[in-house]
Amino acid sequence: MKVMHVDSSAKRETSNSRALARHFIDELRAQGVDVEVDYLDLTVNTPRHVDEAFAIATYRPAEERTAEMKITLAASDALCKRLFEADAFVFAMPMYNWSMPSVFKAFVDSVTRPGLTYLAQPDGRIVGQLNRQKTLFITTRGADLRPGGMFASMDALTPALKAAFGFIGVAEPTFVDAQPLQFSDQEARAAALARAKTELSEVAVQWAVHETVAA
Ligand SMILES: Cc1cc2nc3c(=O)[nH]c(=O)nc-3n(C[C@H](O)[C@H](O)[C@H](O)COP(=O)(O)O)c2cc1C
Repeated sequence: MKVMHVDSSAKRETSNSRALARHFIDELRAQGVDVEVDYLDLTVNTPRHVDEAFAIATYRPAEERTAEMKITLAASDALCKRLFEADAFVFAMPMYNWSMPSVFKAFVDSVTRPGLTYLAQPDGRIVGQLNRQKTLFITTRGADLRPGGMFASMDALTPALKAAFGFIGVAEPTFVDAQPLQFSDQEARAAALARAKTELSEVAVQWAVHETVAA
C-alpha cells in the first residue's frame, strides 16, 4: 500500500501530530501491511500561496495554457500526481486558531485543481477524482472541542477538511482527533493521547483487513 504521509506541525521533536502519524504507520506495518511511504513535510516543502498567475492559470483549460502558465502550475501538477499515485492518505495536523495550519491550507489550494483533481460536468455536477484512496486525518487540539464541551462550536477544522477533500473525491475520511492536549492538565493530556492511539490502532486494523480483502 502506497501511503502519502503529510505532516504540517510547526513543532518537530515535541509534536504530537507527528508522533501520532508515525504511530499509525507503525501500527499499519504491525498489522502486516506492506507500506510504502511517500512523505511530505509541508513546513519544509510549503506549496506557494495562490498568487495572480496561479489564480488565472488554474482555470484556463489545459489545451489553452501558455508555456508560462504551465510553469506556474508545474509544482501543483507534481503534487496532484503524488496524490493520484497514492493508495491512501495520512494527513496529520495541529489545530491552529480553530482551523488548519496555513501550510496545510496552501496544500489544499495546490491540489484542488479544475480538470485534474475534480471535473465539472456539463450538468453542473462536480466529480472529485481522488475517490480511490483511503483517507485518515489525524488532528491535535490544545482545547477539548468534543460535543457537549464549551469549545464544541469552535471546530472550524473538521468541516473545512470534509468540504475541501469531499470536493476532490474523498467521500468517507476517517478522523482521529487528539484532544485536549496543550491546554489541559497532565492527566487529561495523557488520556487524550491514549484514546487517539487506541483509535489509530483500530483504523490500522480496518485498513489491513480491507487490504487483505482487496488483494
Ligand atoms: C499558533 C497556535 C494556534 C493554536 N490554536 C489552537 C486553537 O485554536 N484551538 C486549540 O484547541 N488549540 C490550538 N493550539 C494548540 C495546538 O493545537 C496543540 O498544541 C496541538 O497539540 C499542536 O499539535 P503538535 O503537537 O503536532 O504541534 C494552537 C497552537 C499554536 C502553536
